[in-house]
Parts: sequence; C-alpha cells; structure tokens
Amino acid sequence: MKPRDLSDHVAYEAGRGIEEVARELGRDPSEFVKLASNENPHGPSPAAAVAIRETASSVSSYPKAAHADLTAAVAERWAVDDEQVWLANGGDGAIDYLHRAALEPDDTILVPDPGFAYYGMSARFHHGDVREYALEREADFEQTADTVLESYDGDRIVWVTSPHNPSGSTMALEEINRLADETDEETLVVVDEAYGEFADGESALSLTEGRNGFDARDDIAVLRTFSKAYGLAGVRLGYAVVPDAWADAYARVNTPFAASELACRAGLAAIGDDEHVERTVETSLESRKTMREEIDAHVWESEGNFVLVDVGDATAVAEEMQARGVIVRDCSSFGLPGCIRITCGTDDETGRAVETLNAVLDDLARDTDSEVANT
Ligand SMILES: Cc1ncc(COP(=O)(O)O)c(C=O)c1O
Repeated sequence: MKPRDLSDHVAYEAGRGIEEVARELGRDPSEFVKLASNENPHGPSPAAAVAIRETASSVSSYPKAAHADLTAAVAERWAVDDEQVWLANGGDGAIDYLHRAALEPDDTILVPDPGFAYYGMSARFHHGDVREYALEREADFEQTADTVLESYDGDRIVWVTSPHNPSGSTMALEEINRLADETDEETLVVVDEAYGEFADGESALSLTEGRNGFDARDDIAVLRTFSKAYGLAGVRLGYAVVPDAWADAYARVNTPFAASELACRAGLAAIGDDEHVERTVETSLESRKTMREEIDAHVWESEGNFVLVDVGDATAVAEEMQARGVIVRDCSSFGLPGCIRITCGTDDETGRAVETLNAVLDDLARDTDSEVANT
C-alpha cells in the first residue's frame, strides 16, 4: 500500500534554522545569526508573549470565543464584515482555504515565477494545475497588469504577491484593478500582502471595499499574515479577506479550529500592539537602506522586510556566509541561482550581514583572479 502518485508534488524548502546549521557544522548556536526566513528581528509583540503565557492554562478548551474575538478585531482593523475574514493556520492555511473554495479538479491557478512555492503546492493538493507568469529579472521583477495578462488563459485564481517574495517588487493598485478588469468574471485575483506592513501605500482592500477613489469590486481577495510584522511565525496565524459573496464558503472549507487558542489569543494581543509593529517596520526600513547603500553588489529595491542581492554564485556565497555565522537564503530554489535573499535584521545583525557578505564577495573574487592567473 502506498500514497497516491505524488511525483508532481515538490517539498517546501524552508529557510534553514540556527540549531540545524549549528548541529550540522558542529558549532555553538550562539555564533550564528539567521536572516533567511523573513522573521521579525525583535521577536513577538511583548503583549502577545504575555497572552501566550496566560493562555497556557486554558488550552484544554477549543478556541471558539478567541476565534470570534480575533475575527472581529481583524474585521475592525480593515473596516470589513466579520464574515469576510477567514482566519487560518498561517497565511499558508488561508491559501489552502481559497483553493478549497475555488478549485474544481483540473482548474488552473496562475502564479509568479520566481515566486512563493506554496501557491502551487497547495493547488496541487486540491487537484488543481499550476501555470506561471514570468517576472523578469532584467526588468527588476516589475509587476504590471500586462506582465500577468501575457500569460493569463482564463485561470480560476491569479496570485499577485505584493510585495513580492523574493524580489520585494510591488504591483500598483491601479494595475491590480486593471488586471481584475481584464480577467474573466470567474477569475479571482488574490493579492498576497504577507509583507504589506513594510510597503509604502494602501492595501488592495481599497479595491474590494471601494476606497481611495476606486469602485468596489467582488473579484479580489487579500491575504495577510501575523508571521512577519507581528513576529508570530511560530504560532501559525494568517487570514484572507474575501469578497462578500465568498463569505459563506468559509464554514464549508475551513479545517475546524486550525487557528489555535494560543494563536488567536496571541493575535488579539498583537493586533492591539501598534508600537511593536511600528518599531519592526522602522528597523526594516533602516536595514533595507543600509543594505542597499553598503553591499558591494546589486541590491534590488524592496518593499518587504528583506532584500534580494545579485551575488553571482548564490550557493557558494550562502555557504561561505553560513560558515562565517550568517545564515541567508540561497535563491537557487526560486530559480535564481545568482541571488541570495537577506532578511532585514537589527542594526547589529544588518551590520554583520553586510560586513560578512562584502568580505565573502571579496575573497571569492580574489580566489577567481588567482585561479585565472594560474591557468
Ligand atoms: C509571499 C508569502 N506569502 C505567504 C507566506 C505564508 O506565511 P505564513 O504561513 O507564515 O503566514 C509567506 C511566508 O514566508 C510568504 O513569503
């Protein structure tokens, strides 16, 4: 007896953790800094950490009240109806719910390449197929309606990642609006704003709700997460905000209690802690600026809490940086073998990343020069 044929399914490659790397290299974890998974360098909101401790004694109950309270708080945050908020086990869980609600067998989704791997994985779990549109490195991963429409072929869901992982580029609201206008009535455009807090400008909810000069529309959903700006990646909490007509589907597609009591209580505390989010965003903006100014290689402009750097040989550079104690993301698995992605850290972490990367680039260039001289 075996599982079904999963040969089309690829495993998710997460950024590597400090303990894992330290164990593999036989070193002390305290020697490393991890800037590989776009996590919050300041940790969780302190209010969320208190809430998690206080919730410990009540985890014997199912998270019904906490789920309703958090749904209401998120709905209030965006001035939408509670029913439009689909809480989930991370943004990843919300991706699953949207696919469950939308995809008939063999329906297609259209995703950016390079891009976030889980869209495709999730669609395949739900018996859908995956098509891609190219974001061109030569065009600085520019995102316009036309970039997507060139590849669009009546797909059921079109994924737009804004800010885009791993490049940090964004799609302007006018372009998202035009994209939704020019796709079929039965196509849902989902704008993944996992990094939205770090970007300049309004959420695509302006389009669904008809704000900031746009007419309201019913063919766009928005994805958000508590993993990044709120520092709650470990508790797994995210959500989609869906059009009115989709609201009822939630009860039919959600995994019961997938947003746990701990996650919901932490989320409730974090959503009220503006100070922590502001501090996090400020640190990221500073770090982005420092990396763009001080790294001796091309750094793309980014609206996320990370930057993409053109280093030539990503695997060699990432391995050497790791040996020197700085764990970054080799973007070969995104189809960008020349690039690494570095998460925005604290001032100290950013300084160490810049210094280490510049030294590695220097050393690798010197090695290449001496190889050439010796041939
Ligand atoms: C673009 C994008 N979307 C969604 C997610 C999902 O995040 P989570 O499941 O941690 O909420 C991530 C995580 O890194 C991401 O980069």
